Amino acid sequence: MNGAPNASAAPDGLSIEAAVAAPDGLSIEAAVAALGNGPLTEAALAAHIAPLFSRMRDAAPDRVYLANHSLGRPLDATEQDLGEGVAAWYAQMGGAWDAWMAEMRAYRTRLARLMHAASGDCIVPKTSAGQGLRAILNSYDASGERVNRLSPRVVATRGEFDSLDVILRAYAQSGRIELAFVEPRDGGRFDTGDIVDAIGERVDLVVVSEVIFNTGQRIERVDAIVERTHRAGGRVLLDVYHSLGALPVDIAALDADFAVGGSYKYLRGGPGACFLYLHPRHLDGSLRTLDIGWFAKRDRFTYRRPDPPQWAEGGNAFLESTPPILACYQARAGQRLLLALGIARVRAHSLERQQRLVALLAARGIVARGGTDDHGAFLVVTDSRAGGWREALAQRAIVTDARGEYLRLCPDLLTTDDELVFAASALGEIARR
Ligand SMILES: Cc1ncc(COP(=O)(O)O)c(C=O)c1O
Repeated sequence: MNGAPNASAAPDGLSIEAAVAAPDGLSIEAAVAALGNGPLTEAALAAHIAPLFSRMRDAAPDRVYLANHSLGRPLDATEQDLGEGVAAWYAQMGGAWDAWMAEMRAYRTRLARLMHAASGDCIVPKTSAGQGLRAILNSYDASGERVNRLSPRVVATRGEFDSLDVILRAYAQSGRIELAFVEPRDGGRFDTGDIVDAIGERVDLVVVSEVIFNTGQRIERVDAIVERTHRAGGRVLLDVYHSLGALPVDIAALDADFAVGGSYKYLRGGPGACFLYLHPRHLDGSLRTLDIGWFAKRDRFTYRRPDPPQWAEGGNAFLESTPPILACYQARAGQRLLLALGIARVRAHSLERQQRLVALLAARGIVARGGTDDHGAFLVVTDSRAGGWREALAQRAIVTDARGEYLRLCPDLLTTDDELVFAASALGEIARR
């Protein structure tokens, strides 16, 4: 491939400092430093962080944006970051691959830091969370484990997002996996004991979200699920799409085997910048997947074709074909912001904002769930009219969303108290109609 990244661009042991201190100035880090070390207050956030989002705010100054759990707000720096990736293309053509590969390594390392993974090598870039799940499902074929034995037994909750849910059911329909679902109890909540019971004595893979996408439930005792799965001879794939960036995720401490997630929501990195995490114990060559391409080859730039194929070391053995490199630039600013702020502070601020909105809604006769440790970053109001309420709120320039009977509202760093009062009053009026 003419103009491909050259071999000298390939060292993958990345220094974290190099990945985090991007060369384009320190505006994000300087803005965060100006906040001081204490709790995040509305006044300080308005003074130092809101200016980092001026493009989005100026595009619709009157919009009250409470869909941060869906599409996160982009920083102004995202456009500059993307411009940097594109500028390298204009200026250097194929020579841009050195900078592009360095950005991909930085992307992997920043994600590793955000989720307390051992290193950037544990992070494999993907364009969707579903793609990460497929890579793991296709590891059962690649290792030959299916020969002379039953299909892999997979246990998942009924609360997995549509993407993972439909992939699992398509695999089950074609006989590639044996699939068991854990049902929620009354009120739509999952009980960790039910998940542990469903794992039983033999399991190959357990798929569970740390925070459930429609109810916002934070699954309790994920460590117990991991422990039981390992005792039953299986592995755990955790969906951290609704937890990473919203609450502290320590994937190493959880001892999960795999995780999938992406940048669309709390990481503020838009679509296409997703990932598969693999625990270091799966990076020693013992685990293989069919979801690979020539970037997974050892010495890929020698263009040799040994038979059987030979694979790169560690996480690089899970790379696919020529990667969509600009997604790594697109995700950079959001990752830098979260690393600089620290997720514990973001979580404390989110809980405070949620509690305020719960109280404002309660004063108007509306019961909302959220603001507690067993919950993710968005509030949920459960009502069969949720879809209609979302539309009525949108007519007042209040952006929320609904999943079935669940109306979801998510304040973020930029949400002001006035906006919460305005949204609660509007919903109170709409619900009374
Ligand atoms: C929990 C969860 N997982 C995954 C996704 C997205 O999956 P994919 O990247 O495969 O589209 C979402 C999107 O909303 C989600 O909420």
